[in-house]
Order: sequence, then structure tokens, then C-alpha cells
Amino acid sequence: MDFDTQINRFGTHSVKWDMMEPMFGVPASDGIAMWVADMEFRPPACIQQALDAMLAHGLYGYFGDEAVYLAAIQWWMKTRHGWDVAPEAVFTTHGLVNGTALCVEAFTAPGDAVVLTTPVYHAFARVIKAAGRGVTECPLVLRQGQQEMDFAAWDALMTGKERMFILCSPHNPGGRVWSVAELQGVADFCQRHDLVLVSDEIHHDLVMPGQKHTVMARIDGVADCLVIVTATTKTFNIAGAHIGNVIIHDKGLRDKFAVTMMKMGISPNSFGMFMATAAYSAQGAAWVDDLVRYLDENRRVFDAGVNAIPGVRSLALQATYLAWVDFAGTGMTAPEFTARVEKGARIAVNHGAPFGKGGENYLRFNIACPRAQVVEAVARLQAAFSDLQ
Ligand SMILES: Cc1ncc(COP(=O)(O)O)c(C=O)c1O
Repeated sequence: MDFDTQINRFGTHSVKWDMMEPMFGVPASDGIAMWVADMEFRPPACIQQALDAMLAHGLYGYFGDEAVYLAAIQWWMKTRHGWDVAPEAVFTTHGLVNGTALCVEAFTAPGDAVVLTTPVYHAFARVIKAAGRGVTECPLVLRQGQQEMDFAAWDALMTGKERMFILCSPHNPGGRVWSVAELQGVADFCQRHDLVLVSDEIHHDLVMPGQKHTVMARIDGVADCLVIVTATTKTFNIAGAHIGNVIIHDKGLRDKFAVTMMKMGISPNSFGMFMATAAYSAQGAAWVDDLVRYLDENRRVFDAGVNAIPGVRSLALQATYLAWVDFAGTGMTAPEFTARVEKGARIAVNHGAPFGKGGENYLRFNIACPRAQVVEAVARLQAAFSDLQ
């Protein structure tokens, strides 16, 4: 597996690279794109081969018969996550922003509220608000440099309008792999407040060596209120395929979700189906194992370099390739430290504020790139903040 080669993505309609200059003012000539969560790596050969076979056949009609695809999902979840998935529990959506938006539509009504543990993946709030629902932000707390939940404080924040809780597990940004006790706390919280629990586990394969992700389905007391969303797209770098799994074992929730799928007219994209089926395979698994080792070393290199800048601290990622970096200790305002990163270091990053309360002093850096790019980014950042040394 080659993760070291830098592949030029300019002019390919890559949002990450082609929109870097228009959106952030980071010059295409020598800027580094470390924002959007896709990787600079080609997916495993098994995915390319599946696409090659489609292209060779040359017909692109409607997709039917999901048996092989569903068996691949079952195999992956069982072998990689110790989780038994019933084929009838799986819905195929056009990605997980779509899947989450469908959950909001299916399980809440206009005027209801959805609980988010902030800072959290910014698209959650976007789809909730666009659907005319409210967001109840339950802030994570930082203890010894690690994000933690605070259920007692969260109980006090409930307004009575909440109908759903979206958990990000592992957490983006910050990369926490939630413990069984924390997940049990979420389950109990949802029972206490009568909330449908949507557990977004899109990052569940990108867990650093030594860490263990627990599927929410293995936690007691949530079976009747649980929706789990997963995907091949983040794991295998095929986000443009826009395909995701919404997995619902509870019959009542499943029936409601099925109506929403029908109402929205959603049916599978054949490219995504072929790619996802190929991904959930022994070849795919071997690639992911190598990938995670590479990301772990990237993380070490990035953190060591960035944490050497006085006042800057990167949270230790337990999962994901999305480094969450706190600039509060520099004493600078968000516009000041952001300008140093974008204009000084010429690196495009995600700004912290859209992730919700607690994100204001942070920037998110995507480190899923060749190591040389991480090294270059670190050198630029150290130079941009060199007056603090
Ligand atoms: C937690 C989380 N959910 C969903 C998504 C996006 O999913 P999709 O590309 O399938 O819409 C992301 C992308 O970064 C994510 O981090």
C-alpha cells in the first residue's frame, strides 16, 4: 500500500483542493488543503477493480438485488466490530449527512429539538436547523486534555422539546473513542429524556492502535430507541460515492424510517453499491489495517511538531484523522490565529466555531495525507508562530 505519494488533485472537482483558494484565500500555487474530511490516498485496489469491471461492462442501469451488498455489510460488522446486523435492518442512503437528515425528518417534527454534544461535526446542526428543528447544545468538557461527557450538566439543559440525540462515536472533532461507561451514560440519558439515539459511527474503522471502539448496539437498554449510521466512504476514501448505511433493528423505528425513505424517493446509486461491496472484503480489511498504522504515525509527527509551539495544543487522537488543535494558549483571537495559519502557513483548515460551543478557539487539521505533507505543514506552522518561541 502506498500512502507516501502525493497525488495532484487540482482540476478534478475536489472540494478540498479546488475550493481552497476561493473559500479560504489559501493560494493554489503552494497552499496545503487540510480541511474537508477526505484523504489524499487512493482506495484499495479491490474498489478500483470493481469500478473497472463496471466500466468494462459499460451499462449503468438501475441497481437491484442487494443480497451480496448486504452480506458484505454483515461480514464487515461481524468480523471488524463483533456486531450482528440483520439484513432487513439496513437502509442505503446517499451518504450519512443524508442519512442523518432523514432521521431528523422521520423521528422529529418541526419545533422539536435535537441534542448535540458540542463541539461536533458541523453538518449535524446544519441539517437540523434547515429542517426547522432546534439544536440543544450539550458541551463536552475537557479534562486532562481529553473530551468528556457531563450528564448531570446536560440533564439541566433539557427543555422538554428534545426528541433525538445524535452521538458521534468515535467523536469528530477531537477523536475520542467513547468508553463503555460513557456509552452506557448516553443510553441512560436517552432513556431518561425519551430520545431516539442516532449513533453516527462513520469513523469506527479509523481507530488508533490500542484503542477499542464499542458499537452502540452492544450497550444495554437502547435497543428500542437506537439508529446506527455507518459507511464505507470515510474508511476507504470514497466519499464522492455518496453511500451510507442507516441500520435500525427496532421494528417501530424502522417502519417510520422506511416511510421517510419512500417519501423522499431514495434508491441506491449503483456506483456506490459496487464500491461499498468491494470495500467490505478481506482485501479492504488489510488496507485499513495498514492505513491506520500510517495515520497513527502521522498523528505522532503532527502532534509533536504542533505541541512544540507555545500555547498550541493538539488533542491526542484516539480515532479519526482530524486533529483538533486548541490555540487558546496563544492569547490570540480566532481571526488572529486563523490568519497566521491561512495566510502565514498557507494551510486551509476547518474553523472551530461552526462545530458549536467550545469550538471557538480551535482549528481542525486533516492529517490523512502523505507524511511529507504533514512534515511540511508542521514546519510552516512553527514558522508562522515563531515569535512565540
Ligand atoms: C461524523 C460524520 N458524519 C458524517 C459525515 C459525512 O458523511 P457523508 O459523506 O456520508 O455524507 C462526516 C464527514 O466528515 C462525519 O465526520
